[in-house]
Amino acid sequence: MLPWMLTMTAMLPRLRTVASGAVTDPTASGPTLPPADELEWVVPLEISSDHAMSERGLARVRTILQMRCELPLAAGVTASVRKIKTEAFDPITDSAGFLDVNNRAFWWHPDQGGWDQKRLMGELQGDWVDLGGFLVHRDDTSRIDGYCWTRVHAPSADEDEPALGEIYAIAADPHCHGRGLGKALVVAGLGHLHSEDLDHGILYVEQDNEAAVQMYLKLGFHVHERRGGYR
Ligand SMILES: CC(C)(COP(=O)(O)OP(=O)(O)OC[C@H]1O[C@@H](n2cnc3c(N)ncnc32)[C@H](O)[C@@H]1OP(=O)(O)O)[C@@H](O)C(=O)NCCC(=O)NCCS
Repeated sequence: MLPWMLTMTAMLPRLRTVASGAVTDPTASGPTLPPADELEWVVPLEISSDHAMSERGLARVRTILQMRCELPLAAGVTASVRKIKTEAFDPITDSAGFLDVNNRAFWWHPDQGGWDQKRLMGELQGDWVDLGGFLVHRDDTSRIDGYCWTRVHAPSADEDEPALGEIYAIAADPHCHGRGLGKALVVAGLGHLHSEDLDHGILYVEQDNEAAVQMYLKLGFHVHERRGGYR
């Protein structure tokens, strides 16, 4: 196994959670992108990667951006974003509401869409999960209409990385898109991470998820690295 494949294998749990694809037609039948764990990943993606992989008969079918930002966000950025109140996710009362929003927002996504209660409970078993960093937002009728699930990564001397605060998964109800909820959820999630003493935000997003990428750029994220998924 090549070194990057070993690296990628170690990364798969994280990659399974990234958002991807700017597909916007919820009447279509389902995800067209292949799941992350069915692909070979090149990290970081280089200009020469496609050529090298094509010699092995493999084509790039997913491209994921790792984006980063410094925390806190600039005061002017947070001031321009709608103020919202979020609450910590409660598995007893919020699971159905979370699954409803998640599956409609991510209907097109091969890794984050199509979750059921069992899948959610499995994710919640992760030793990293801190429900205080799993923020949900409710509409006027108390129905969950968006969430921002964050994750903290301890500093890694091996990888020369500081502690990183990740936007692990985020979605707004498709009925609410374009009204500022997405930006407000990101700001709430990053605010929580900064309150936990994190100075660096990180997330993974499919390169062609234009709405999300534009939102992150607007809030102050930059592209740190690209990753290519081949088959
Ligand atoms: C990404 C997502 C959370 C954005 O939520 P939203 O409530 O529609 O976002 P906002 O209204 O706050 O818009 C934020 C910015 O996103 C960008 N944006 C939103 N929709 C866009 C679109 N269709 N095309 C291009 N940019 C778009 C704009 O820059 C916008 O800022 P502006 O209003 O100042 O122009 C939402 O589209 C979503 O849930 N998508 C499915 C799940 C997903 O992809 N999550 C991200 C995973 S990394």
